[in-house]
Amino acid sequence: MAKAADVEVLHWWTSGGEAAALNVLKEDLKSKGIGWVDMPVAGGGGEAAMTALRARVTAGNPPTAVQMLGFDIQDWAQQGALGNLDAVATAEGWDKVVPAALQRFSKYDGHWIAAPVNVHSTNWIWISKDALDKAGGKAPQNWDDLVVVLDKMKANGITPLAHGGQPWQEATIFDGVVLSEGNDFYKKAFIDLDPEALGGKQMADAFDRLMKLRTYVDDNFSGRDWNLASAMVINGQAGMQIMGDWAKGEFLKAGKKPGVDFVCIRFPGTQGSVTFNSDQFAMFNVQGDDKQKAQAQMASSIESPKFQSAFNVVKGSVPARTDVPDTDFDDCGKKGIKDLAEANTNGTLFGSMAHGHAAPAAVKNAVYDVVTGAFNGKYKDGTEAAQALASAVAAAK
Ligand code: BGC
Repeated sequence: MAKAADVEVLHWWTSGGEAAALNVLKEDLKSKGIGWVDMPVAGGGGEAAMTALRARVTAGNPPTAVQMLGFDIQDWAQQGALGNLDAVATAEGWDKVVPAALQRFSKYDGHWIAAPVNVHSTNWIWISKDALDKAGGKAPQNWDDLVVVLDKMKANGITPLAHGGQPWQEATIFDGVVLSEGNDFYKKAFIDLDPEALGGKQMADAFDRLMKLRTYVDDNFSGRDWNLASAMVINGQAGMQIMGDWAKGEFLKAGKKPGVDFVCIRFPGTQGSVTFNSDQFAMFNVQGDDKQKAQAQMASSIESPKFQSAFNVVKGSVPARTDVPDTDFDDCGKKGIKDLAEANTNGTLFGSMAHGHAAPAAVKNAVYDVVTGAFNGKYKDGTEAAQALASAVAAAK
């Protein structure tokens, strides 16, 4: 049998919390004799990583494994660029334990092409416990509560909302805002891409909310990385951050504890619903038995229940299989696991638009443009922004 080669891995896990989680994977592979060649490309949401990937594939030299989200995986599979993990998936019974919502992206034409690492979700808020106590101590349950708490934080002399002005971060906030307009509305607008939902009254309202949130951000938000925004909440400069649960990885890395130093809540008005994204390692067509063997070993390591727990405890996400005990997870992690299972049963689990699980990249990018424009004052009101969104999506479809 050929000796396993090193794996070359392209990813965007470059923040402190992300690097700590990645290290769990590196060490796991190392213990099995698989070496790691690192190809980090910074930038949340993975846009820069996807650009770097295209260059490598065009040059005929793809990495072994690539961190990838939703529709991008399907896109590469359709182009015939991905390998086949059926042997390991069948031997280990992945079909039975990986939720169908993830398999929809991990399989193409009935074949396994990617190994899901986790499930993240975007409709979360991370609040400083101290800032919340000083603002009345009650976690906001709906939009009006949220505005009250943000106003109090402002009056208390801190930046109410920590935010990094990058299109994917604004789109991440917008996932929660749109979902707070209702489950059916989120589905109609972002999954079905219904022109009336995209351009109508409820979307106008969602944009008005987004523009309202803009008023709670500090002056230096443009271009700031998401983890620096998390740091503002961690060090007490800001009250809260609306961000996916990878933000929890930053709090944990800084030694902060849920319930003591910070509070995790669903975006007000979205309790019971989950907008998810799953990081998967898409396996590229590589030549040579040794490389293919390393790919299969990496995939097998990732899907092991023990690894799923160890990795996701650090990353802030929840396991990509349904049979992993929540024992080692903190309260936010336990809530994440429970919310995901319930949303899946109740039909309130939706792919995240911001993170490539609602629509293909062309549509997602069109949404990014309008959402960022709206956040930065391009439109006179929500109605104008909603009309722009409907046109942009129609052109991109
Ligand atoms: C990924 C997360 C990552 C975040 C910020 C998301 O798209 O799914 O794993 O931590 O971007 O980099």
